[in-house]
Amino acid sequence: MMEFKQNIRGNVALGINPLGCKQEVLNQIDYVKGKGTYEGPKKVLIIGASSSYGLATRISLAFGTGADTIGVSFEKGPKNEKNLGTAGWYNNIAFREAAEKEGLIAKNFVQDAFSHESKQEVIDYIKNEFGGKVDLVVYSLASGRRTDPTTGETYTSSIKAIGEPVVGPNINMQNQTYYTETLEPATEQEIANTVKVMGGEDWELWMQALKEADVLADGVLTTNYSYLGTELNHSYYGGGTLGLAKADCDEKTNNINELLADINGKAQIVVATAVTTKASSVIPFFPVYCIGLYKVMADKGTHETPIMHQDRIYREMIYGNKPEYDEVGRLRPDNWELDSDTQAKTKELILKLNEENFNSNLTAYDIFYKEFSNLSGFMVDGYVDQDVTIEELKALHY
Ligand code: NAI
Repeated sequence: MMEFKQNIRGNVALGINPLGCKQEVLNQIDYVKGKGTYEGPKKVLIIGASSSYGLATRISLAFGTGADTIGVSFEKGPKNEKNLGTAGWYNNIAFREAAEKEGLIAKNFVQDAFSHESKQEVIDYIKNEFGGKVDLVVYSLASGRRTDPTTGETYTSSIKAIGEPVVGPNINMQNQTYYTETLEPATEQEIANTVKVMGGEDWELWMQALKEADVLADGVLTTNYSYLGTELNHSYYGGGTLGLAKADCDEKTNNINELLADINGKAQIVVATAVTTKASSVIPFFPVYCIGLYKVMADKGTHETPIMHQDRIYREMIYGNKPEYDEVGRLRPDNWELDSDTQAKTKELILKLNEENFNSNLTAYDIFYKEFSNLSGFMVDGYVDQDVTIEELKALHY
C-alpha cells in the first residue's frame, strides 16, 4: 500500500495525499449541494481554477447553478512514488469527474495562463466546443513569477514592506514554532516586479483577447479577488508590495469596464476574506493574524473556508439580493472580517501571544493547521485510507 506522508517545509506543503485531495473536493461539492441550487451563469471561464478560491468558485458555480466550466491552472502530475505532483493536479481531476457525472462540461487547461498561446487555446476551445461565448470570467491567479508574453522577460514578485522594515511574530508549521521575523522594505525594482506579477496586467490581457475574439456574451461579468485587510496587517500587506499590486487591479478595472461597455459587460473587484491557502500561508506574519482572527470569528460563527466564502459571494451577493459595495464599487464580502468588534478582539488576542501559547486553545492554530493540511489532502473529513498504485495515479487524466 502506498503511504502518503505529510511533509512541510517552513509553511510550504511538499507531501500530498491525492486521494485525500479528491475527498476534499467531494466535501466541497457536498457543501454546495447542501445549500441547494441558485440562478447564475451557465458558461464560465476560471483562470486559476485548481485550488482554494478559484476551485471553490468553480465548485459553487458548477454544483450550485449547473454551469459548464473551463479551468486554467498550472499544476504538475505524478512522476514516481516520491514525486506525486501537486494537489491542484488531483483537484482538477476530482472536479472534472464529479462534474461530468452530472452531465456538466468541465474542461481543464493545465498550462501557463500568462502566455499568449494559452489564451488562444482557450479561445479556440470556447469557439469550437464550448458554445461560442462565456458569461462569467473569474480571475483567481496567485503566482510568484510571471513571464511577460511579449518580451519573454520573467519577473519575480517579492512580498515585502515599503519604506520601513517590519518586525513582528510569525509561526513555522514545520517546527511548530513562534518566532520574530524582520521583513525588509522592497526596492523600487521589487515593487515594480510585484505589480507586474500580481497586478492586473494579465487580467486585462485576458479580457482584451477574449473580447477581440468575440467570445464574451452580452452582459458578461469578470471578477478578480482582492484583499485589503486592516490596520493589523497593513504594514506588510495593504501598505506593502502586495497592496500595490492589488491597487493596480483596481485601476485595471476601469480599463476593462471601458473595454466591455459596448457589450454591457462589467469588471468587478471582490474584496475577499482572509483564508488559509498555499499563497497566504507564506505571507510573512499573516498566519499569526489568521490564528487570532479565526478564533474570534469561529466563536462568533462567522469563520469561513474558501468554499463557504465563495458560495456566499456568488449565491447571495453577485447572483443573489444581498450584495454590499464600497464607495468605489468593490464588492465587500470581507465585511465580516472587518467588523469592528472582530478586529478589536483579534488585536487583543494577538497581543497576548507568545512561544508557549500560540498553539494552545487560546487561538485557532488548530483550525489553521487543519485547513492548511486539507490543501494537500491530509486531515480531510470523511477520508478513509484506500489502496492505490503509482500506475493508477499516472493513468488519471485531467
Ligand atoms: P492559490 O495559490 O490557492 O491558487 C492560485 C491558482 O493560480 C492555482 O489554481 C494555480 O494553479 C494558478 N496558477 C498560478 N500560476 C499560474 C500560471 N502561471 N498559469 C496558470 N495558472 C496558474 O491562491 P489563492 O489564495 O486562492 O489566491 C487566488 C486569488 O485570491 C489571488 O488573487 C489572491 O490574492 C486572492 N485572495 C486571497 C486571499 C487569501 O487569504 N488567500 C484573500 C483575498 C484575496
